[in-house]
Amino acid sequence: MRIEQYIENKKRKHDGPICAYVYDLGQLRKHVDTLKSSLPDFCRLFYAVKANPDPRILGTLATMVDGFEVASGGELKKVPHNNPVLFGAPAKKQAEIEEAIDAGVEAINVESFHDLNRIEWLSKQKDVVTPILIRVNLSRDVPESHHMMSGVPTQFGVDERDVPEILKKALQMNHVSVQGFHFHAMSNNLNAEAHMQFVAMCLEKAKSWRNHFGLEIRTVDIGGGIGINYWDPDVGFEWDTFASGLHQLEAQMDGLSLVLELGRFMTAAAGSYVTEVLDVKANHDHHFALIRGGSHHLRLPAAWKMSHPFRIHPVEGWGAPYERPGMKKAEVTIAGELCTPNDVLVKSEYVEELRAGDVVIFDYAGAYAWTISHHEFLSHPEPEFIYLDEKK
Ligand SMILES: Cc1ncc(COP(=O)(O)O)c(C=O)c1O
Repeated sequence: MRIEQYIENKKRKHDGPICAYVYDLGQLRKHVDTLKSSLPDFCRLFYAVKANPDPRILGTLATMVDGFEVASGGELKKVPHNNPVLFGAPAKKQAEIEEAIDAGVEAINVESFHDLNRIEWLSKQKDVVTPILIRVNLSRDVPESHHMMSGVPTQFGVDERDVPEILKKALQMNHVSVQGFHFHAMSNNLNAEAHMQFVAMCLEKAKSWRNHFGLEIRTVDIGGGIGINYWDPDVGFEWDTFASGLHQLEAQMDGLSLVLELGRFMTAAAGSYVTEVLDVKANHDHHFALIRGGSHHLRLPAAWKMSHPFRIHPVEGWGAPYERPGMKKAEVTIAGELCTPNDVLVKSEYVEELRAGDVVIFDYAGAYAWTISHHEFLSHPEPEFIYLDEKK
């Protein structure tokens, strides 16, 4: 089944107004397969659960990725059993650290001296040695990215200048073992060459600390941060350029493995938010289309103050005995059902025609979409969740 078929079925049954997240698990499988097969053997592809923790998505990825990155005890519980897990979070609760140790995660990120002391102490109580990665906030930033988490003052990681000191401390401890470094630094980077420069910089830093302190590390985790061009989806991040850049690092890896923790780039294109237009009107000489749904289901465009990419599925036939509202050949703002002017998904974009009863499909809604939205606001019904799967 395709999205269009789902819409037609709903319309035929008069089962509206339509409001759904549609996840294409077949597309997800193909995409991840392409990503994995293009990477060199020294790379391990992890999925960042925060991007979309939907159980069917996690279940689909479980047999494809090399592991999962989690940022809370809640996410840890959602990961399908027997998958490698990396646990990192800036504000860890004691219970979460214990859960991560008990679950036997591959490593826990250390984000501060306090983090290190707590992990050492809790591991001692349990009489275990816990593998750790030192999460570093690099001194240099990464140009052209959104939401900097490194290279600028943030709550994330250990200041690069403090890395030698935290390593000295960790090396004196008996219940933690330094397995490598974690460098997640940005979000939505669209420039493959800049991303490669970042990776090369991370590798150099990790190797210089390894050599200086005689560490027996095995992991350089570059995090996620590869972007989706919501403004012009046809001109996206050049994955092939990035993957061939990674292949060129082969000779410099010295037995280290490079972990990628992709969130957005893994699942964004596998999800669409599909909503029906309830009304179309003009106000202060501007057209507005109001949809069943809004930013309480898809908060991303409001959060980033952008128009989300959309396409219109025209629905012919209007059963009502009164006039069908609509507009033609003009700019429209597509707004949701909330009582706030911030509930806007598309701002002043040109359309040929849009009418009540038509359906708007917002693609690239498989990551940081439903999961980051304020579902309870105004107590509207939640969307349906539909899973398309080419195998069925
Ligand atoms: C530590 C860490 N790893 C990976 C990711 C995934 O990033 P993205 O979805 O940009 O690939 C995030 C996102 O914030 C993160 O904080």
